[in-house]
Amino acid sequence: MELPKIDLPKLDLPKLELPKFELPKLDLSRFEMPKFELPRIIQGGMGVGISKWRLAQAVSKAGQLGVVSGTALDTLFVRRLADGDQGGYMKRALDAFPFQEMARRVWNEYFVPGGKPAEAPYPTLPVHQAKQQTKVVELLMTSNFAEVFLARDGHKNPVGINFLEKVQMPHLASIYGAMLAGVGYVLMGAGIPLHIPGVLDALAAGHPAAYKLAVAGAAEDVYMNFNPVDYAEGKLPELVRPKFLAIISSNTLATTMLRRATGKVDGLVYESPIAGGHNAPPRGKLQVNEAGEPIYGERDRISIEDLRALGVPFWLAGGYGAPGKVREAIDLGATGVQVGTAFSLTEESGLREDLKQELLAQAHDRRGQVFTDRLASPTGFPFKVAVMEGTGSDLAVYQERKRVCDLGYLREAYMDANQKIGYRCAAEPVANYLAKGGKEEDTVGRKCLCNSLLANVGHAQIRKNGRVEAALVTVGDDLNSAAEFMVDGKLNYSAAEVVDRLMSRVRDEVAETEPGLFGHPGMKPAFV
Ligand SMILES: Cc1cc2nc3c(=O)[nH]c(=O)nc-3n(C[C@H](O)[C@H](O)[C@H](O)COP(=O)(O)O)c2cc1C
Repeated sequence: MELPKIDLPKLDLPKLELPKFELPKLDLSRFEMPKFELPRIIQGGMGVGISKWRLAQAVSKAGQLGVVSGTALDTLFVRRLADGDQGGYMKRALDAFPFQEMARRVWNEYFVPGGKPAEAPYPTLPVHQAKQQTKVVELLMTSNFAEVFLARDGHKNPVGINFLEKVQMPHLASIYGAMLAGVGYVLMGAGIPLHIPGVLDALAAGHPAAYKLAVAGAAEDVYMNFNPVDYAEGKLPELVRPKFLAIISSNTLATTMLRRATGKVDGLVYESPIAGGHNAPPRGKLQVNEAGEPIYGERDRISIEDLRALGVPFWLAGGYGAPGKVREAIDLGATGVQVGTAFSLTEESGLREDLKQELLAQAHDRRGQVFTDRLASPTGFPFKVAVMEGTGSDLAVYQERKRVCDLGYLREAYMDANQKIGYRCAAEPVANYLAKGGKEEDTVGRKCLCNSLLANVGHAQIRKNGRVEAALVTVGDDLNSAAEFMVDGKLNYSAAEVVDRLMSRVRDEVAETEPGLFGHPGMKPAFV
């Protein structure tokens, strides 16, 4: 059958102009998932010299983030040189320093061939001030460079550096020195480090940087300044801006950091009050237990849910140094954990060998005691102290010490009656402190952390009468958990063993857990 031919009328179809759908540009940066290269474990910065280059190197080599302490590195460096630079490490680092004339000046001034006599005191250095002497700046740059350079040696993984915000005066030159050595992360707590991200941006670009100094009683802002050009020999080296992690103790502080910082905050570390070192004071009216330790309550609880909602990677610290705890932190939505105490007792830590052995033995027998001393630190923050005979935790040792303030890292700047900046520390001789306008009640129970922490790492100052500065060790409440790393009857362990044990329950699950990092249902909302 032949079908009739149908003449279809030519339909001039109107050309459809499809409206251009401009897809809204998604700002993915806020939702950026933590990359695989972000560490599950951050070995927390531990000053002075506990997290020395050797410890950070071992942790980074093991694939996690090793962090050196940047606190008082200039003094530590000078004391290493005065002890004859055992092993030749400082020399090796100085040889790699980009400004060789400066490196030579530092070496020539402080190196003592063969080391100083054991009974001789270490040289004293000019204390830090708002306007730093060139010699002080050079020491800060070279010593921070050396610590990071050595920690980075022998592997390709990132290394971080930790500073305490309260120790402000060395910041700019220290950070620049660490950046010259290619530091990958800067971590800072013990204060509100709002200005550090901007400082990192400026220094990475080779620009001058300024840092606001807290000066009690000052009517106008006081800034510290640092211009890399003033110190460079030739062209400025090209630098990479390190990631910045703020160490925080509350949701408010976390939000403040993200909203008001002068540059990018790449992540947050939440430290609970059981962590070693300094702790944030409890909120509200101070309550203490029978022993005089501060009591933390409901108001000190952090909401992990709110922390997660901020959309940046975060790590949990304080009692996370035990197998199973990394898994727990990830389940709560964290990228991982920051651990201090367990690492402070490793073979690679800078803690003096006799102190380390004593603490390992205490932990092994589960008899370690930790006291939260709300008075000891001149910063006014509670400070965790390991109870050990013969150290500053011992009342007799504390009372026997004549007050001297010769290192001055914790000195507070204040404006005096003549509108000049003065400096005072609540642990200095009481009469001096009062003469500088300090209050007597603030001196009660204050301990010289500067001198004790240097004693902790085997570089105690020796006084004219032959008296040697005593140690005062800090560890977290969870000290006895270190027993879990002592296996096969051994009373010691390495940093790699800690990493291995901590990672044992997450190693094979990374791919599975990653997508849930910011939306894990049923997570526990709070912990202390
Ligand atoms: C010996 C020691 C020294 C510490 N020093 C510092 C420091 O200088 N700066 C800092 O931000 N945190 C410091 N901390 C805190 C650690 O970086 C880390 O956050 C904390 O130890 C984690 O809790 P944990 O001790 O329960 O593992 C220190 C901790 C210890 C044990």
